[in-house]
Amino acid sequence: MSREKVAVLMGGRSLERDVSLRSGKRVCEALEAAGHKVLALDVTADLVSTLRAERPDACYIALHGKYGEDGTIQELLEFLGIPYTGPGVVSCSLSWDKSLAKRLFVEAGIPTPAWVTLTADAFKEMGAATALDLIPDEVGGLPVVVKPSKQGSALGLSRVDEAGGLAEALLNALSYSDAALVEKWVDGCVVAVSVFDGDDGPLVLPPVEIVAHSGLFDFNAMYTAGETDYYVPARLDDDVAARVIEVAGKAHTLMECRDVSRVDLIVDPQGGVHVLECNTSPGMTETSLLPMAAEAAGMSFQDVVERLLHAALARR
Ligand SMILES: Nc1ncnc2c1ncn2[C@@H]1O[C@H](COP(=O)(O)OP(=O)(O)O)[C@@H](O)[C@H]1O
Ligand SMILES: [Mg+2]
Repeated sequence: MSREKVAVLMGGRSLERDVSLRSGKRVCEALEAAGHKVLALDVTADLVSTLRAERPDACYIALHGKYGEDGTIQELLEFLGIPYTGPGVVSCSLSWDKSLAKRLFVEAGIPTPAWVTLTADAFKEMGAATALDLIPDEVGGLPVVVKPSKQGSALGLSRVDEAGGLAEALLNALSYSDAALVEKWVDGCVVAVSVFDGDDGPLVLPPVEIVAHSGLFDFNAMYTAGETDYYVPARLDDDVAARVIEVAGKAHTLMECRDVSRVDLIVDPQGGVHVLECNTSPGMTETSLLPMAAEAAGMSFQDVVERLLHAALARR
């Protein structure tokens, strides 16, 4: 590939800023090693003027969470006419909103745990708090997971075992997002499946199995060394693994996740697959799941970064 000028967008003001800075640093190193001219840009109010002055050939989005994964930066780069890595505006906006994404999964026949969505406005303006007693039956019983509809890295997420814990968990989730999901807890094997666009259809990497020592893959388990064990490929029977790969590919395609996505799902003890979400800017840190899966598939970190950059440049 020719030598290109690439702006790596990282940091910013999302709650996943620190993770993004780690992803960004690694991406910069890989792009430099490949001979590109790299601008490492921490996203601030100067971003637009910097991009206009520097006129990069492409932006590599190493942002995670709000603004980086919700369509904000994608919409801005469309306006500025700069090609960027990863899924486009619609895909990001839909994937970022778990409540909408899950509705699309259901319509497309992609299995996802039973849930209800409650918006902050429904509490504030419409008295939704008087219906908390209906929730357990609605989702098929306790325990449940309460999580913000739009957030990542398990921030604001908690497991609730008794109905009395719902209100506090909802309040917590709603401090991160304008809506919260109460989702049936699914016991089983937590799996992350990274997907690229292949030549004809999705190219699904080996599923990564996640075993958090605490029993919940929360922020601490995600980013503290030694808190979680990973198995690549996931320890699944062949037929179950094939189903996981099929479902992940279907979710990637349904959500129009151009270039790349990481589909998070749970496999229950009967081999049933339950999709939780699609991530449109998967982590690229030393301990992240996409680089782990790529390595198992014989792709180096640099291969991944170059593949995504190439896809962006092809849209010039
Ligand atoms: N319904 C559920 N049942 C069991 N575990 C869950 C459920 N929902 C989430 N989790 C756990 O929490 C983690 C984060 O949830 P996820 O829905 O992927 O949100 P985030 O965007 O924060 O990553 C998952 O990887 C899984 O380990
Ligand atoms: Mg997740």
